[in-house]
Amino acid sequence: MVHINWGLIGCGWVARDYVAPAMQAAGNGRLVGLCDPNQAAMARVAAATPGVACFNSVDALLAMPELDAVYIATPNHLHAPLVEAAARAGKHVLCEKPMATTMADARRMVQACESARVQYATAFDQRFQARHQRLRQLIADGRLGTITSIRIHYACWTPGDWRPQSDDGNYDNWRVDPTRAGGGAFIDLAPHGLDLSQVLLGERLVEVACLMQRRVFHYPVDDGAALVGRFAGGALLTLNVAYNCPDAFPRRRLEVIGTAAMALAHNTMGQTPGGTLQLIHSHGEAEEISIAPTDDCSPFQTQLERFSQCLLEGRPFPFLPAHDLHTMELLSGVSANHLTTENTENARS
Ligand SMILES: NC(=O)c1ccc[n+]([C@@H]2O[C@H](COP(=O)([O-])OP(=O)(O)OC[C@H]3O[C@@H](n4cnc5c(N)ncnc54)[C@H](O)[C@@H]3O)[C@@H](O)[C@H]2O)c1
Repeated sequence: MVHINWGLIGCGWVARDYVAPAMQAAGNGRLVGLCDPNQAAMARVAAATPGVACFNSVDALLAMPELDAVYIATPNHLHAPLVEAAARAGKHVLCEKPMATTMADARRMVQACESARVQYATAFDQRFQARHQRLRQLIADGRLGTITSIRIHYACWTPGDWRPQSDDGNYDNWRVDPTRAGGGAFIDLAPHGLDLSQVLLGERLVEVACLMQRRVFHYPVDDGAALVGRFAGGALLTLNVAYNCPDAFPRRRLEVIGTAAMALAHNTMGQTPGGTLQLIHSHGEAEEISIAPTDDCSPFQTQLERFSQCLLEGRPFPFLPAHDLHTMELLSGVSANHLTTENTENARS
């Protein structure tokens, strides 16, 4: 086997704009099957993928004998049943974040994959952004000294009738539906910062607290959240996520502060390559960290290639399900302090 045959379940925004193009570009994988009940959405991905098979039912896709693995890119509440179905069919799984809408679902997903002896990973593309990978190495090499804190601001503008720029139909904005999304800006955006900060430091967060708001929009989920956390070694995390931040503002910012240097990453968090990474040394000098254009490729492509390579070589993907379950535990622990009408409505006045 020289490549992995992928199926894509869910052909909406992230699948159409990022996952399917990454599968086409990846050297060791190819997209062979699609499934989406929305025919128009599936047709758009199929039009850009010559020869791909299209299915209305997940079971029909999973019955393709040549299929090795699936990428799940559906609304959040469907991650669990779809991962379980894929595991039953003996297919490896990359599943979009957040892993699930409940801790119980997340545990069942991992259990199903372990029982079926297939690999499971949550698709945290930002781990594979070239500047994040370089930053991880700089931290591991001690170039920043002792890390004292990480500050992240990761936000966007998501009104109730939001739709992706590339959508050409009547978009169903499930992100503001608590049943299908599991929450609002918090559940959608905070997993990225929690995961990325732990990956950069190579340390677990041991404690996280959170306050949520519903400040600008009237939908039944939070439109912003402020989290603080502490890593096992004592560094602190400050993480702000929001749906109520105009897109024109600087809103994708990552700072890692150490005793020898501070790293500033702008516009590296998200779905795309690019952005900037700078070190400010404690003696005051600034150093731009450059990435060779050939290394600056889609984080989705790098992720798919690394996962596919592990499957081809029969070795575990280095980001184990236990790490993702830990992040889910942090999320579900703080969402117990959930958004209520009392603790947010006043804040709007
Ligand atoms: N990593 C990232 O940066 C990133 C970015 C966007 C979305 N996401 C995640 O990706 C997932 C999808 O988000 P999106 O923005 O693409 O949503 P979307 O609404 O644009 O697309 C979801 C698609 O799933 C399809 N679908 C619904 N039920 C299905 C089923 N039973 N079987 C197959 N397909 C089904 C819908 O018809 C739709 O086409 C979410 O979990 C989201 O959190 C991640």
